[in-house]
Amino acid sequence: MTNILPKKSLRDLKPYRPAVAENKNEDVIRLSVNEGALGPSPKAQKAIQEWSKQKHLFHRYPDQIDHNLIYEISRLYALSEDNIVLGNGSDDLIQLICNTFLDPGDEGIYTEYGFLVFPQAIKIAGGIPVKAKDANFTVSLENIQKSITNRTKIIFLANPNNPTGTMLGSLSIESFIKRVRSDILIILDSAYAEYVDNDNYSDGAKFVEVFRNVIMLRTFSKLHALASLRLGWAYCPIEIANILKSVRAPFSVNSLASYAGIAALKDREFQKLSISHNAKYRAWIFNKLKQYQIDFIPSEANFFLLNFKSEEQASGALEYLEKNKIYVRGMQPYNLKTYLRVSIGTEIEMQKFLDCLLSFLGNKS
Ligand SMILES: Cc1ncc(COP(=O)(O)O)c(C=O)c1O
Repeated sequence: MTNILPKKSLRDLKPYRPAVAENKNEDVIRLSVNEGALGPSPKAQKAIQEWSKQKHLFHRYPDQIDHNLIYEISRLYALSEDNIVLGNGSDDLIQLICNTFLDPGDEGIYTEYGFLVFPQAIKIAGGIPVKAKDANFTVSLENIQKSITNRTKIIFLANPNNPTGTMLGSLSIESFIKRVRSDILIILDSAYAEYVDNDNYSDGAKFVEVFRNVIMLRTFSKLHALASLRLGWAYCPIEIANILKSVRAPFSVNSLASYAGIAALKDREFQKLSISHNAKYRAWIFNKLKQYQIDFIPSEANFFLLNFKSEEQASGALEYLEKNKIYVRGMQPYNLKTYLRVSIGTEIEMQKFLDCLLSFLGNKS
C-alpha cells in the first residue's frame, strides 16, 4: 500500500481509454478510430523505409524545433512558420495547452457530444470541465456562451465535431469569437478539416491571424494516416506559440515521425486521392443507408453516426459486426447509447460493412 497519491483533483479521475479495436491484423476491418482509409501515402511509406536504414540516426536526439517539418506545413497550408508548434499527436498539444493555461479551479468548456480528450485534459491540468449542451447533434455556440463564467479560461470545440461529424460555418464562428472575452482561449480542433466539402467551412487558421486568443489544432493521424507515429501541430498567435514552445517537453516529436510527415505533406496527389476517396464512399454509404431507411447523421468528416431503434439493437449490431471481424465504435461513453460511429474505409470494407449491417437488421428487425 503506497502513501503516494495523485494530486487531489485527480483522485476520482477515470482513465480515458477509447474502445479502439486492439486487433490490427490485416484480416479485420477497423472502422472504429477514424484512421485514414487508404493508409499513409506511398511516399511516406518509402521515407519510413529509407529512414530506418540510416542506422547512424537512431541514437541521435531529434531536433527540438523541427524547422524542416514546420516549413512543409507552412507551405501546404500557407501559414507563418513562427506560429506553428509541433506535438506528439494533437492529444499531446491538447494536454500541453491545458497544463500551460489552466490554474487550479479555472473552468474549461467542452461540448456535449464532443471529443472526450478535452474534459480529461482540463481535469488533469487541475481545471474544472464544464459541459455545454449541443443542439441537434451540432455544437451550440449559444450554449457555450451561456456556460461562460468569470472562471472560464479555455473553450474547446472540434469542427467538424467528433463523434457527430457535424460542422459550424465560418461566419458563426467568427461572430462567436468576437463575443467571447479576449482573456478566454478558444481552441478550434480541425482534425478532420481536409474532408469537409462545404463553402461555409473554415479550418480556423484565419481567425488565429486576426484574434489573439484563438488556436487551431491539426493532426497527421487522419488525412495523412500516420496515427502510429503520433504527430500533430497547433497554429497559434505568436505570444501563445512562444509560451507553448517553452513549456513543452524538449524532444516531443520523434525523428521518424517528422521524416514521414514531411514526405506525406509533399505528396499532394495522395492527399487529393484520399479526400476524393472519402467523399465518394461517404456519399455511397449515405445513399445506401437512405435506400434501406437506416437512420444516420450526415457528416462532413471521415466517419458518421448510425442510429438504431434501441440501445439493445445498437449493442447487438456492435457485437454482430465484431463477430464478423468488423470493428466500429460504441457510443456509450458519449451517452449516445442508440448510436454507433463508423469510419469510412476502403471500397471493399464499406461493402462488407453494409452487407453485414443489412444481414444483422434483416435477422433482427
Ligand atoms: C477531434 C479530434 N482531435 C484530436 C484527435 C487526436 O489526434 P492525434 O492522433 O493527433 O492525437 C482526434 C482523434 O480521434 C479527434 O477526433
